[in-house]
Amino acid sequence: LNYLTPKTRREILELLVNGLKRLEYRGYDSAGVALDSPDGKDMAIVKKSGKVKALEDEIFSKEKTLDFDSSTDCHVGIAHTRWATHGVPSEINSHPQRSDVNHSFVVVHNGIVTNYKDVKLFLEKKGFHFESDTDTEVIAKLVLHLYTQHPTYSFRELVEQVIQQLEGAFALCFKSKHFPGECVATRRGSPLLVGIKAKTRLATDHVPILYSKDDTSIKSDAEAQNPDHRPHGRGEIPILPRSDSTAEFQPLEDKEVEYFFASDASAVIEHTNRVIFLEDDDVAAVKEGSLSIHRLRRTLDESHSREIITLKMEIQQIMKGNYSYFMQKEIFEQPESVVNTMRGRLNFETGSVVLGGIKDYIPEIRRCRRLMLIGCGTSYHSAIATRQLLEELTELPVMVELASDFLDRNTPVFRDDVCFFISQSGETADTLMALRYCKNRGALIVGITNTVGSSICRESHCGVHINAGPEIGVASTKAYTSQFISLVLFALVLSEDRISLQSRRAEIIKGLENLQEQIREVLKLDDEVLALAKDLYQHKSLLIMGRGFNFATCLEGALKVKELTYMHSEGIMAGELKHGPLALVDKNMPVLMIIMRDPVYVKCMNAVQQVTAREGRPIVICEKGDTETQSYAFKSLEIPRTVDCLQGILTVIPMQLLSYHIAVLRGCNVDCPRNLAKSVTVE
Ligand code: G6P
Repeated sequence: LNYLTPKTRREILELLVNGLKRLEYRGYDSAGVALDSPDGKDMAIVKKSGKVKALEDEIFSKEKTLDFDSSTDCHVGIAHTRWATHGVPSEINSHPQRSDVNHSFVVVHNGIVTNYKDVKLFLEKKGFHFESDTDTEVIAKLVLHLYTQHPTYSFRELVEQVIQQLEGAFALCFKSKHFPGECVATRRGSPLLVGIKAKTRLATDHVPILYSKDDTSIKSDAEAQNPDHRPHGRGEIPILPRSDSTAEFQPLEDKEVEYFFASDASAVIEHTNRVIFLEDDDVAAVKEGSLSIHRLRRTLDESHSREIITLKMEIQQIMKGNYSYFMQKEIFEQPESVVNTMRGRLNFETGSVVLGGIKDYIPEIRRCRRLMLIGCGTSYHSAIATRQLLEELTELPVMVELASDFLDRNTPVFRDDVCFFISQSGETADTLMALRYCKNRGALIVGITNTVGSSICRESHCGVHINAGPEIGVASTKAYTSQFISLVLFALVLSEDRISLQSRRAEIIKGLENLQEQIREVLKLDDEVLALAKDLYQHKSLLIMGRGFNFATCLEGALKVKELTYMHSEGIMAGELKHGPLALVDKNMPVLMIIMRDPVYVKCMNAVQQVTAREGRPIVICEKGDTETQSYAFKSLEIPRTVDCLQGILTVIPMQLLSYHIAVLRGCNVDCPRNLAKSVTVE
């Protein structure tokens, strides 16, 4: 909103639709836009279930009614892709949601409002009729209700009142017919940023926060929340005292600024790389070309301004280039992305490893009781992949946990625990909740993420950015190998002064040095993997077996196959074969086995023989030149040998390629598998 030069409505709609396309990778089932009418007195809403392309076609079929050629220099347009949490994917349930047929207020929302039923009941008693099944619609109607009660409130004040009644997670963006040219956005739990595009250099790189209440006796906002203000089943919503802030606006001084609100930098990066990451309960308002950021209360432990950050991300990084799919591009980027994870951290000559983001905490980490690695999906697998090495090099107990299960169990956590939260997006709700759980119990929190400015990054005491570059494909690939390497680097840091571990460290560092070349070599197997995919894609199931350092590859390979191809697949610990899975094996069941010349080689060979004895026809991933192992295989893929603890980086790549090719052969949407989302910001 607030354009540097006048834009036609066509340009505005293109900008919005393009922004949605950049977010398509996150997974969604419907999309919508709202924008002001040319005279600013009404607004048009267009919504569609399905792909952004369907919305785009709908918009462009309404060229006349939407008055494409009229231009404006101050205009608010909002757009959204929805992933259903309440109510089926449909046009009526998609966003923007409206307050009434006159479109007094419209809102888009990411997250879940957990107390929406109470708010809905309250509003129904006031005569509101609901048209959708969404939790979001209560927000649109609540703001209208408050407006009719308090017509003198500013737009921002109304939104401040609204969010005090909401529980759960949200990033919200509002526009209103009553406040033309204004937009108000806020967040709690779900990510939100403000993109700032300026004609000239901005006069400031910090936006000060305005407070309605200066209450420095309160330590944190959580403490400041008074539960009595929430409707919670009582069916009544008390109106809180109006903000007593006198300064209505604290604009960015340069007036020639264009603003974007977005949940993810990919949506705005082609317009600007200067962004502010909003914090929970910030309310950001744009009015008459000025941005201001408000909070209800000033508390002791928070920063009093928001920094404008310059992102390093470039538009090419989020384009597909010559690849058919983002996932394919990301698989082939791994020779570079793994080096980017090590860059500036590992000195191959001296063997020194420095992780700038955690170095001040190393003495504390050395004194800890245990390490806990927590994550979901692929990120969880990177923890499994590196657990053995962490145990070996740190000599500490290492627990690896799925965030959801960790929370379900109310797992005991202590002040002298060090908890790692591994997340590509840095926004996964389960992981974030687990982080807060551990933080509340006094543990040291280390974030391992790929997304600068993400919630996990900001809420951690210290951390490591894996620097893999934007990952767009829903199925994670290059983030996995970079998470893997980040954790290996951490193990190297902790073992730096252990004389007895020096030769082991040296061999690992040598292995890391050669990794880029070896990944390139593995990627050359693409045609062989495609041939294998052609053999497998019509089957119903695929079993993937291994053990030791390669067990994580089996889990990750099976996850890739499931999510991309919708074919059943299971990662099996080869040691468990005789305890059940062997019953599945016959001459028709595809079995893939990972057998490397490492300490569990002999045991893996036992497993392969158990499979062949049941007429199974194993496809084996083994070391280059290992003819003995190949003699047991029905088919094989040879990959270069590296140090045992790094081998999983090389064995996972054929699995990524295999799932990719099977998905293409089965006609699946590789970058956006059905029912899945890139960043799952709901529990
Ligand atoms: C979703 C994605 C997975 C990902 C998982 C954890 O389920 O589809 O690919 O591994 O979330 O995401 P995170 O961003 O926390 O690594």
